[in-house]
Amino acid sequence: MNARIIDGKAYAAGLRGRVAEKAAALTRQTGIIPGLAVILVGDDPASAVYVRNKEKALESAGLHSFDHRLAHTTTQAELLALIHACNLDPKVHGILVQLPLPKHIDTPTVLASIAPEKDADGFHITNAGQLATGRPSVVPCTPLGCLMLLRSVLGNDLTGKKALVIGRSTIVGRPMAQLLLNADCTVTMAHSRTRNLDVECRHADILIAAVGRPEMVRGDWIRPGATVIDVGMNRIPPDCGSTGGGRLVGDVHFGEAVQIAGAITPVPGGVGPMTIACLLVNTLAAACRQAGLPVPEEALP
Ligand code: GUN
Repeated sequence: MNARIIDGKAYAAGLRGRVAEKAAALTRQTGIIPGLAVILVGDDPASAVYVRNKEKALESAGLHSFDHRLAHTTTQAELLALIHACNLDPKVHGILVQLPLPKHIDTPTVLASIAPEKDADGFHITNAGQLATGRPSVVPCTPLGCLMLLRSVLGNDLTGKKALVIGRSTIVGRPMAQLLLNADCTVTMAHSRTRNLDVECRHADILIAAVGRPEMVRGDWIRPGATVIDVGMNRIPPDCGSTGGGRLVGDVHFGEAVQIAGAITPVPGGVGPMTIACLLVNTLAAACRQAGLPVPEEALP
């Protein structure tokens, strides 16, 4: 049996369309245009591509993007001063600081300086704490998108499903596990020190791979019929003599897994497009909250 391929690109396009409609209605009714400050420090090429894609998506959904490109030599004090100004600016409803930051800047200090209600990424410790205590407010974009894709396959009720999250990052693994726990799944967290990872995988009805190791999860690790969400984005170097830029692969060996799983996200075209679509959701939700209006249902896990 071949798995159902979960089309994240199509789902994200629909979601961006719904955000655009709701943002237009908000602007009609209140004059508010949801705005996101996007801050990039340094010139990491991958980060520059992500940031450009975020800005394009914001503009095409009718949201404002306030772009801040800072030199690699920017001091922490200068970055904190910019964030402080964004915190005070009523046209800025959300703030995103692209990670990773240069080594001379302390990331936790920077994230803590963002006003929690303007934290579009949901990385502020207050928002992480809200999620961890079962009262989510702003939810990180990638796990929120993964949950939407899971529900598109399994329905809204995930009660009692056995979920395995591989990877314990604060951007994906940890908040993903919290979301699944809040959805009444039985959650196991695995990471680089987990023993017998293949055995853990075979128990899982829901498998979320977010480790950053190309094709680590093999087909025979997967429980037949399981739903597999592959968050990995790994660039494989081109073959010797080839002129291409190399292949993009996930953390799951797709060719093997597709024969065993019930449903699986491809790479690219699975989770990736959902992250940006959920950033639009979080920006719209921030604008609604700051105006004292109800948040769109898409932002509520
Ligand atoms: N770097 C990698 N993923 C992300 C993300 O979701 N948000 C931010 N701000 N930086 C990232």
